[in-house]
Amino acid sequence: MLALCYGTRPQVIKASALRPALARLGRVHAVDTGQHYDHALNALLYEQLGVAPPDEFLEVGSGSHAEQTALILTRTEGVLARLQPRAVVVIGDTNSTLGVALAAAKRRLPVVHVEAGLRARDRLMAEELNRRMVDAMASLLCTPCAAATTRMRQEHPGAAVVETGDVAFDVLRGVRGRLASPAAVVPGLEPPYLFATLHRAELTDRPEVLAGVLRALGDLELPSVLAVHPRTRAALAASGLTADRVGRLRLIPAVGYLESLALVQGAAAVVTDSGGLQREAYWLGVPCVTVRGETEWEETVAAGANRLVPPAQAPETLPAAVTAQLDRWPAGRRWTPDAYGTGQAASAIAHAVDALLAPTTDTPSRRAAEPSHRQAAG
Ligand code: UD1
Repeated sequence: MLALCYGTRPQVIKASALRPALARLGRVHAVDTGQHYDHALNALLYEQLGVAPPDEFLEVGSGSHAEQTALILTRTEGVLARLQPRAVVVIGDTNSTLGVALAAAKRRLPVVHVEAGLRARDRLMAEELNRRMVDAMASLLCTPCAAATTRMRQEHPGAAVVETGDVAFDVLRGVRGRLASPAAVVPGLEPPYLFATLHRAELTDRPEVLAGVLRALGDLELPSVLAVHPRTRAALAASGLTADRVGRLRLIPAVGYLESLALVQGAAAVVTDSGGLQREAYWLGVPCVTVRGETEWEETVAAGANRLVPPAQAPETLPAAVTAQLDRWPAGRRWTPDAYGTGQAASAIAHAVDALLAPTTDTPSRRAAEPSHRQAAG
């Protein structure tokens, strides 16, 4: 048996492709930590992507990073002790990724890290801490792109490193043909418009910077729609911003996966701090402006598809960045979105897991062949 563990919105989306692919190797026990629990961030995604409910929902919920990670760690430990899976598959860089990987590694179970090898400069950012530690614990590092592969081979020469591409592309390819029109998602919304999402702690923890970004969006020539993550909603409410309009910016509640993609596809450009949206815009041929000082998805910037605006500078530089992206990519002119694989990552990951667990002779790139892992995999 394999354990597939996840807990946030983007991880439920990626698990929808991973679960059936891994199931071809044998039984998969799906564990949702419950880090995200709101309908739009959890149950709705299972519905939209036709995913069976998880085998276990750990109801971890929100808390400080320490509380949340500790709860994920202890609750997952109980699950893993009971199940004794052959390997534990985790995705990305959230507190769920870290808590589960740590529980698994402490029990000497092989950890498979999907979306391994990404890096940001800020070493103390929560996601950066999480992904560095999980990369260090993993037996199999499944990378989305060439730069991550090179980095993992340098940093972790004892682990198996397989460049599988990005599983988010698999999911997008599967639903692309059934996206609604923007007006079906937001009544009255007609192109041209900008679609925005903002949720990262670097922004929500600084109310004056967040307000500055919203005002900059509202002052743009094109109308914008911001789908508001619950954390952003809480940050806005705390600073007294409860209006559903700021200039030409319209605020709507968080939307499901299909609605979000529909809004990206119909947009003239996307303005976001989400890693997921940066790639979705890249794949859908929509120019992006990322409200961060850096991005882990640097290939999107290298292609010209994405442009960075540090949050504190947004009031001055956002208008020029949006205009530059719109000018650079008039209709019909698009980049080739080939940096993150071909949309067949889930089966490549399953193949790599199969190879990791196969009882063959040792190879230098196979950490799973270490005795402790073999015993635990039992
Ligand atoms: C988490 C991940 C982030 C990822 C994002 C995807 C970490 C450290 N961060 O950020 O990497 O990009 O998920 O969306 O794991 N909340 C709700 N309802 C929910 C979930 C959260 O209201 O269903 C609110 C709570 O106030 C909570 C806050 O959002 O305290 C933050 O939630 P949390 O899971 O800690 O982090 P995200 O910002 O969602």
